[in-house]
This record gives sequence, C-alpha cells and structure tokens, in this order.
Amino acid sequence: MSDVVTYNREGAIGVITVNYPPVNALSHAVRTGIQGAIQQGRDDADAKALLIVCDGRTFIAGADIREFGKPMQEPGLPEVVNFIEATDKPVVAAIHGTALGGGLEVALGCHYRVAVPSAKVGLPEVKLGLLPGAGGTQRLPRLTGAQKALEMITSGEFVAAKDAAQLGIVDELADNDDVKAAGLAFAQKVVDEGKPVRRVSEQNDKLEAEKGSDVFDKFREGLKKKARGLLAPFKCTDAVEAAFTSASFEEGMKRERELFGDLMDSDQRAGLIHAFFAEREVSKVPGLPKDTPVREIKTVGVIGAGTMGGGIAMNFANAGIPVTIAEVKQEALDKGLSIIRKNYEATAKKGRITPEQVEERMSLIDGTLTYDDFKDKDLVIEAVFESMDLKKKIFSELDEKCKPGAILASNTSTLDIDEIASATKRPEDVIGLHFFSPANVMKLLEIVRGEKTSDEVKATGMALAKKIKKVGVLVGNCNGFVGNRMLHKRGAEAMALVDHGASPQQVDKVLTDFGFPMGQFAMGDLAGIDIGHSIREERRKAGEDVPPSWMDKLVEKGRLGQKTMAGTYKYEEGNRKPIPDPEVDQIIADFRKEQGIEPREISDQEILERCMYVMVNEGAKILDEGIADRSLDIDITWIYGYGFPAYRGGPMFWADQIGLDKILDAVKKYHKEVGGKQWEPSPLLEKLVAENKKFGDL
Ligand code: 3HC
Ligand code: NAI
Repeated sequence: MSDVVTYNREGAIGVITVNYPPVNALSHAVRTGIQGAIQQGRDDADAKALLIVCDGRTFIAGADIREFGKPMQEPGLPEVVNFIEATDKPVVAAIHGTALGGGLEVALGCHYRVAVPSAKVGLPEVKLGLLPGAGGTQRLPRLTGAQKALEMITSGEFVAAKDAAQLGIVDELADNDDVKAAGLAFAQKVVDEGKPVRRVSEQNDKLEAEKGSDVFDKFREGLKKKARGLLAPFKCTDAVEAAFTSASFEEGMKRERELFGDLMDSDQRAGLIHAFFAEREVSKVPGLPKDTPVREIKTVGVIGAGTMGGGIAMNFANAGIPVTIAEVKQEALDKGLSIIRKNYEATAKKGRITPEQVEERMSLIDGTLTYDDFKDKDLVIEAVFESMDLKKKIFSELDEKCKPGAILASNTSTLDIDEIASATKRPEDVIGLHFFSPANVMKLLEIVRGEKTSDEVKATGMALAKKIKKVGVLVGNCNGFVGNRMLHKRGAEAMALVDHGASPQQVDKVLTDFGFPMGQFAMGDLAGIDIGHSIREERRKAGEDVPPSWMDKLVEKGRLGQKTMAGTYKYEEGNRKPIPDPEVDQIIADFRKEQGIEPREISDQEILERCMYVMVNEGAKILDEGIADRSLDIDITWIYGYGFPAYRGGPMFWADQIGLDKILDAVKKYHKEVGGKQWEPSPLLEKLVAENKKFGDL
C-alpha cells in the first residue's frame, strides 16, 4: 500500500484517503494507491460502501502535470477510473476545495458525489491545451446533457458546488465544510437505504434524448470566434460529440483517447503547460528567499487621478485596502473619482459586482490635494506625467512627508528608477510598480528593482501583486524595462516595414494571425500614437539618430489614435473597430516619395520574422544584462502584459520551439539587409547556438 493513499474502515464504510500535497495530483503513486485501496475495500467483507476523501486543502486537482511528456507508467488514469466504477460496492466521493480535471473524472467514476458548500468542480484541461482524457468527455454529458458539458469542457471554468448540484454533477450538498463528516454521513445513508451501485457510464437517457441534435455544429460555429487559433476547444467538442455518436461507452472512450493523444503531442499543449508553470515560478525570485520579511500594506496613496492613477487605486479598493488619491486641482480629482465610479457602475451593470459592492469600494477611495495626507501611508504610488523633473520633485517631497518605512513607488513606464530614487534619502524604499493599461484589468505588474532597493521592499512588491490579484514579475532597471523595451523594438520594425511597402493592416493581420489580440498599429491607436511621437522627438532632441516616420506625419495632422477618432486607422462613433483609411495610405505614399523609397512587395513571413525575431534578440540582450533573471520572466511579461498567445508559451519559449539557430541566422541576415542596433546579434543568442542550447536551459 502506498503511503500517499491509505485505507481504513470506519464502521461499515471503507475510507480511502488521498494525501499527496500540495493538491493531491494523480501521480503514479496516487493512481496505484487508489487502485490498491479500492481493491482492499472490495476484499473487506465488513465494508458495505467505500468513500474517497482527500486530506489537505483540496480534493484531487487533476492529473500530475509534471508527469506529462514522460513515458506513462501503468496504471493509466482511465483504467483507474474504470476500476473504481466497476466496483460492486457503492463508492462515494467527498469533495472539498477543487475537484479538477482527472480529479473530477475520479469523482465521476464514483457512484455518488457529495460536496461541501465551498467546493468547486471543473474540467480545466482545455486551459493546458488538452481535453479530459479519463472519461470526462464521456461521463459529464451523461449527467448534464450536451450544452452544459460543452460549455464546461471548452471553457475550463469552475462550477460552484451549489450549481454542480443543480446540474446533477453532485448528488448532495453538505451543510458545512467538514468534508470527512459529510462523506461518512452520506456513505452511511447509502448503506442504510440500500442505494444501488450507480455507474455514470451506464446512464444513457440524456444521450438518447439529444441524439441527432444540431447542438454540436452550432457550438463549433460559436467557437470559431471565441477560440480563434486554439486547437483544444475544437477537439473537446469532437470528444463530447463522440459520447452521442458512438455505439457504446467503450467506443466513445476510445475516441476520447485518440483525441487526447493528438493534443498531448501538440505544440499548443507544450506552450500552455510552460505558461502554467512559468506563472507559478515567476513568484519565486532567484536570490530573494521565500522567508524574506515583507511590510504590511494597510493604507495606500496614489498620486495622479489620470488614466493610470484611477485604475491603480481601484485595485486596492477591490482588495479591501483604503486608498487616497492626490491631484493638483480639485477639478482633476473630481473627474478622476467620477471615472472610477462610472467604471464600477458599468461592472455592476454587467452583473459582475453588486450595487452594494460599488458603494463599498467607493467608500475605500478618497481624494486630497496635499501630500500631507500621505504621512501615515504604508505605500505611495506616483502616476503623474512621464517627466523626470516632475517625478523627482514629487519623490523629494514624499521623502519629507512620508513616515519612515513607507514604500515610495513610481508607475513610470520608461524612466530610470535609480534617478527617481536619488531624489530621496531612502533609495532602499523606492521601487517601480509598473501597471499596464487598463490598470484595473491587465494582470501584469512589472516590479522594477532599483540598484539600492532593499530585499524587503522587493518581496513586499511581489506579495502585494498577489494580494491585488496581479502576476508580479521582478525586473531590472533600464529604459522600458522588459516589456516596453521589447515592444519599442517591434514598433520600430513595424514602422520600417510600412516605410518600405507593407500596409499597416498587413502588419497587423500577421500579428493577429499569430495570435495577438491586436496588431501593432491598432494597439498604438488605442494607447495614443502621440506617446511614441513624443518619445521619438525627445530622442531626436537628445541627439540620437531616430529616422523620420510617416507616423510623425499622422500626429502632426492631429491623428492621435482612438481618442481623436483617427490614427493609423479611422474609427466610427461608439465603435473601436479599426477601419483602414485611404487618407493614411496617401500620407504613407507621400512619405515614401519624400524619402526616395521605392516600395516593394513584403511577404507575411518577412513581417513575422522582423516583428518577432527582433523581440527575441532584444529579449536575449535583456537576459544577458540581467534585466530579467530568467526567460520565463519575459514569457510571463508578454503573456499578461501584451496578450502574447499563451498557447505559444511566450516569446522566449516560442523561440526555443522555432530553433535558436534559425533565429540567429535570420537576425544576421536582417542585420546585413536592414541594419541598425536592434539587429546586432545578442551575444547570448550566439553563445546558446554555439552550445546547442535553448533559453529554457539557462
Ligand atoms: N499537477 C502537478 N502540480 C500541480 C497541479 C497538477 N495538476 N496543480 C497544481 N500543481 C502545483 C503547482 O505547480 C504549485 O506548485 P509549486 O508550489 O511548486 O509552485 C502547487 O501545486 C500549488 O498550486 P497553485 O500555486 O496554483 O495553488 P492555488 O491554490 O492557487 O491553486 C489549483 C490550486 C486551483 C489546483 C491550481 O493549481 C490549478 O488550477 N491547477 C491545475 C488544475 C488542472 O489543470 N487540472 C487538470 C490537469 S490535466 C488532467 O487532469 C488530465 C486528465 O484529464 C487526464
Ligand atoms: P495622465 O496624463 O492620464 O494622468 C496624469 C495625472 O497626473 C493627471 O491627472 C495630472 O493632473 C496628474 N498630476 C500631474 N502632476 C501632479 C502632481 N504634482 N500631483 C498630483 N497629480 C499630478 O497620465 P497616465 O497615462 O495616467 O500616465 C501616468 C504615468 O503612468 C506615466 O508615468 C506613464 O508613463 C505611466 N504609464 C502609463 C500607461 C498608459 O498606458 N497610459 C501605462 C503604464 C504606465
């Protein structure tokens, strides 16, 4: 008997307990253990019913993802689930925490399910590029019917115990969270009432009722837009359909297995599982021990109630932390606060929060016109205009007014954190907290360490990210940090491609076909293209060699992006859809003429290579300089800050899949053909290729 699964009898109930922290994943030891314990229960003449229950924080959270990609050790999960179901004594699953993926499949293999009120169930395999491969696609629709099973399996969303009970997934809802007591009581009831062994695989009423329905075709139609570029949701649909079209349960299981195998072998599965672990790894910062003390953040100040300040403040109110916003003028403050209220009210209208929650959150936000009100704050985040002089002035004032131990943070997207910190006498307490717009929505928080930032302040930044439900990535200090530094390289390349013959919409289509939610130019219109223009102007003034651009002409004509209804594209009132504009085509054509550029046909492949490889080359430089500690930090920055398709694993993981040798060859080619610092090959990239290694090996 394995020590991760134990069997003991309590009265007439044979209790099988799984104890495999942290989440009772179905490792080989757990699978073998469950099978052995079920066998023991079968053989135990005094056991009239069996109960599967888990120790620790949760019921089984799924297959052990760490075993994927390695040779499968028998018994496989489908066999274990079938073995449970075939048992001739009633088997009950008692669910707490989350019964996910293979965990829910184990529960569906049991004859009855009881759940505590706080429990959730789900089949989230799709989020890992997979489908439920241990009978989930065949058993769930037998309980819920096709539509609900399709929704659950293709979205991977969790369902609360109460709803699971309504859907017939759970037979009984316990009245408190004592899972073992609930399981034992239910199992005893099964014995006392002589309830039969009831196998889900034998329940065919729902299948019969829906045979021949057009629900699958309709569902696939809807997926075309929702799941663009993704493989798994479509294969999930095929697998659920097989439950309805197969002659037997066994035949359906065979089809599920084939489809599962297809996905297991796919690059998308590899990318999504990389993203899953990278997201968890990113919080474990090298050189920052887990037990680093963190400061308690009980009250927060935000400076600036503009685009970013308002969104930043909402994050704290959402987490129940009171926040005060400072502005220069009452008018700006009132405007900022009213936008926050409008945002909350819009969320309430969509039913995502209640009207009471709107008031609760608003009551946690107040405004001020003086930093005197910041003297007791544990953290102050500055979000004023991107001006070094202004930021230094503010930090020097904060240094005087804030209590010792308060953390002073800047939301700057490009400026030097060390220079900002130099305006204070406490650079160890200064850090960058770079939110992404809209700050209350985007999940990324780039946490920028200055040279003197203390470990305690870095660790507090990381803990804070978790508290406000962001993914925090700790990065070094340089112009643009990790995300914007790479983005700026891609932006310059995209503009140059248009200079030489591509159209903005061709460039954007290549990027959206790759899986980005928006192309470079549509994204620029959203953020405002005047920002890029001012950055170029600043650099020109500083004497840098920044070539002229057709985008400067757009700004000169007042086309600043969505906010002026025209940028690289034009917009219609109340609609954010970018519409190609002949006026822009003309501006571009005139610009080419002016610059003596003969436009040429540019292939989609060249666009893809130049936009993506330039980022990978820059990413390698960022790693080499220690601005990012690991390639996974870059991957997560791009997935959560810029909508890089998670199924490609992030830019550095994607580069590893393409082959670094291939990328280096292209970088060298473009260095020769296009020129510019951005195409100078990264020494790290060259070294990795010479050593036949990948970013993931670092
Ligand atoms: N396998 C292996 N390790 C897992 C795991 C799994 N299925 N699920 C979570 N873990 C690990 C995490 O990597 C993390 O490890 P770490 O502490 O070393 O970083 C640890 O468990 C705790 O995880 P979280 O930090 O995510 O803890 P939370 O409490 O925030 O969340 C959870 C818990 C909701 C269970 C979340 O971890 C989760 O969603 N896990 C994945 C669930 C899943 O996708 N299951 C389906 C697997 S595929 C499958 O079952 C195929 C089958 O159909 C054949
Ligand atoms: P914004 O122009 O919308 O807001 C700035 C606000 O600061 C204005 O309301 C202004 O009145 C106020 N302000 C100026 N001086 C002040 C002072 N001394 N005291 C109090 N308030 C003052 O600017 P936005 O877009 O919110 O940017 C703010 C910062 O966030 C900048 O550093 C920017 O680089 C950064 N950032 C911006 C992002 C974006 O997408 N807009 C994304 C990430 C970071």
